[in-house]
Amino acid sequence: MTQALIHAARRAAGNAYAPYSRFAVGAAVLLADGSIVTGCNFENASYGLSLCAEAGALAAVNAQGKLLQIREIAIIGGRLDQQELQGSAPVRPCGRCRQLMTEAAQLALCDIIVHCASADLSVVEKYLLSDLLPLPFGPSDLGAVQDD
Ligand code: THU
Repeated sequence: MTQALIHAARRAAGNAYAPYSRFAVGAAVLLADGSIVTGCNFENASYGLSLCAEAGALAAVNAQGKLLQIREIAIIGGRLDQQELQGSAPVRPCGRCRQLMTEAAQLALCDIIVHCASADLSVVEKYLLSDLLPLPFGPSDLGAVQDD
């Protein structure tokens, strides 16, 4: 399943709109029902408005009403060179995306597994979200999580 998730993320990276950074990122979320939802980065001429792949994938999960079903996410990315994804360094989620994932994790009462892969697939790291973002602020701090 991990392989399928990483390959789904890699395929999604192929749709990245990244004309400014030339760095394409794909993300694939695994849901409790076994389905996979993907996203890719979506840059903007006003650079700071660019959206990360993880944000797109999480928003797509939310659009399906399935935030509580999020279990794992795979992220992959690299330089776009003649339409090919290149690079040997794993892509780890930015701080904002760690916070976005934390929202779903706390709602789902689940520590999300995060797979970080390099474009050439030579490196795949596996983390718990709680290790990537320890001591988070989230919906549970606002009393917005139902744990009964
Ligand atoms: N990017 C992501 O999509 N996810 C990350 O976790 C790191 C960065 C994107 C944002 C921007 O379009 C490009 O990679 C270069 O920063």
